[in-house]
Amino acid sequence: MKRNETNSSRRNFLKASAAISAATILSPASSVFAAGTETVKVALVGCGGRGKGAMKDFLNAAKRRNLKTEIVGLADFFADRAKGAARQFGVSEDLAIAGANGYKDIMKGDADVVLLVTPPNFRPVHFEAAINAGKHVFMEKPVAVDPPGARKIVAMGEVAKQKGLTVVAGTQRRHQREYLDTKYAIDKGAIGDIRGGSVYWCGGALWRKKRNPGEDDASYMVRNWVSFTEMSGDHIVEQHVHNLDVTNWFLGRTPKSAIGFGGRARRQTGNQFDFFSIDLDYGEGVRVHSMCRQVNGTYSRVAEVFTGATGETWGTGPGKQGFPAEFKRPDAPYAGNPYVQEHVDLIDSMIKKIPYLNEAENVGTSTMTGIMGRISAYTGQLIRWKDLVENKRSPWYNLTCGPTPADFENGTVKAPADDIVAIPGKA
Ligand SMILES: NC(=O)c1ccc[n+]([C@@H]2O[C@H](COP(=O)([O-])OP(=O)(O)OC[C@H]3O[C@@H](n4cnc5c(N)ncnc54)[C@H](O)[C@@H]3O)[C@@H](O)[C@H]2O)c1
Repeated sequence: MKRNETNSSRRNFLKASAAISAATILSPASSVFAAGTETVKVALVGCGGRGKGAMKDFLNAAKRRNLKTEIVGLADFFADRAKGAARQFGVSEDLAIAGANGYKDIMKGDADVVLLVTPPNFRPVHFEAAINAGKHVFMEKPVAVDPPGARKIVAMGEVAKQKGLTVVAGTQRRHQREYLDTKYAIDKGAIGDIRGGSVYWCGGALWRKKRNPGEDDASYMVRNWVSFTEMSGDHIVEQHVHNLDVTNWFLGRTPKSAIGFGGRARRQTGNQFDFFSIDLDYGEGVRVHSMCRQVNGTYSRVAEVFTGATGETWGTGPGKQGFPAEFKRPDAPYAGNPYVQEHVDLIDSMIKKIPYLNEAENVGTSTMTGIMGRISAYTGQLIRWKDLVENKRSPWYNLTCGPTPADFENGTVKAPADDIVAIPGKA
């Protein structure tokens, strides 16, 4: 019964997608691979730490498949970062594109694959443009900061399917040997049906940037994006999405509701919380406790643990002894590093060496799970999944974080005040 409710919720989520699909199929998938050409053209949007890392991982993966590569565009909000990336990859600085509109030039260009690695608030707009332009996509997690953004990702994922465009997300645990082994063992019954769990991202604070004298709001927010909910989704979305994604993946469904709390004591810039504690109700009596904290000097744990009817396991497996032989996954080739393996899988799907891969719905719903927990903690209310994905009269359905990507493109960014945060019961 309850499983049907979950399916119906998913159907409604996808129904919203279908409305977009018909209107947005503008061009067919890139034809390069169909034509058998061996050079893959790749472009990057967001040349920061992870963006340059993702480009390196993509080039490494292509080499493993004996594909030639050509970098055809490097876009970043800041010109010096785009040019720095060009120098790092040994290509002409003419390929560097600056500004919040730079992604449009990338989509007009002849890249077969685009790597979308800006802060997550821009991802829905960039992903939509990429799919409309017929590009295969690697996009970093998380993929949105608000419910309309997460729904857009799922909707455009459906368009990508119709066009045969591969979509891989930076939720790399789905490409990591230990997690794949655990998922296999759980599906084979190694711990019985999952009855509950706890998932953690507890660690120290990330960086914080002070405003430079005379610096405008857009530049300040881009440089300090991990401090602003409007840019990052807060760390329950930005970091903890990895553990929430494992939970949805292992359980094979999304939560029905969230009730939680959080607070802030140590941060000085932006408006994020320091910690969250959320009870996720997955229906059928299954509850998962999600906790995350970014406070220096406190206990660190980044992990997932699940209790089943007949046993227990961490996301990475039950420990040194491993699972009994009958639950062992058959050996599969592995790049040794999930950050490279996800690009090997992207390429293998593009060249049809493995079945078609499209992770938009997975990462869109995992991002929505973090957003649901955040709204619950900020407001102090119980938040239901259906109020985010199908109930248009819910106050949360159209909750939109601003400044929006359009504000960055149009130069109308007004930064929220530093250190003014949500107050549960009043927010
Ligand atoms: N999968 C993982 O383990 C992992 C690890 C680190 C980061 N990430 C994700 O990668 C993304 C980027 O993180 P990062 O650590 O590289 O941050 P970063 O600040 O180092 O880089 C972000 C870059 O994007 C640029 N940028 C911002 N807005 C832009 C726009 N509209 N158009 C073009 N460029 C723009 C910035 O100038 C910056 O150079 C985030 O979503 C983050 O959560 C994932």
